[in-house]
Amino acid sequence: MQHIALFFNVFACVMLTLAFPLPSSSTIHEDELVDIEKRIDHVGRGTWFRPGLGNCGKWNNASDLIVAIGKRLYDRNKGSNCDQYMEIINTANGKKAYGLTRDSCHSCSDDDIDMSPALFKKLAPLEQGVIRVSWHFKNRSWRP
Ligand SMILES: *[C@@H]1O[C@H](CO)[C@@H](O)[C@H](O)[C@H]1NC(C)=O
Ligand SMILES: *[C@@H]1O[C@H](CO)[C@@H](O)[C@H](O)[C@H]1NC(C)=O
Repeated sequence: MQHIALFFNVFACVMLTLAFPLPSSSTIHEDELVDIEKRIDHVGRGTWFRPGLGNCGKWNNASDLIVAIGKRLYDRNKGSNCDQYMEIINTANGKKAYGLTRDSCHSCSDDDIDMSPALFKKLAPLEQGVIRVSWHFKNRSWRP
């Protein structure tokens, strides 16, 4: 009987440990995410949309030079990329522009960006619709 009781005690301890794992020591502070992110060069699809009230909580219009980043990237960084600038290059013609992060984009991967018409026009004609872009975040204090 004692052996069985011991077995169940050990079993209970194992189950408790599994149910309440210790917090991971590798939890990354969101400011670090921003610093890591700005060093990553993304290459993906560039598209355009008509801005309105963005996920960052601010209104923008078609004339503003703003960007929506992938929803998963936005959420992973807990919205901390809002109001952060990025440098964008059209890989087909080398044209460069700067956009302010103001929204998130559901159909975008981490590498894709959705731009305001004014910003897209700096890189290619709107009629082109989709372009290939290389982009990276500037640091948070950077302004064009
Ligand atoms: C768009 O918004 C900017 C401010 O972000 C404002 O200066 C500009 O007049 C607006 N343009 C139009 C066409 O509404
Ligand atoms: C941001 O970048 C600018 C130049 O690109 C640099 O002078 C400045 O020190 C940087 N600031 C931070 C906080 O990294």
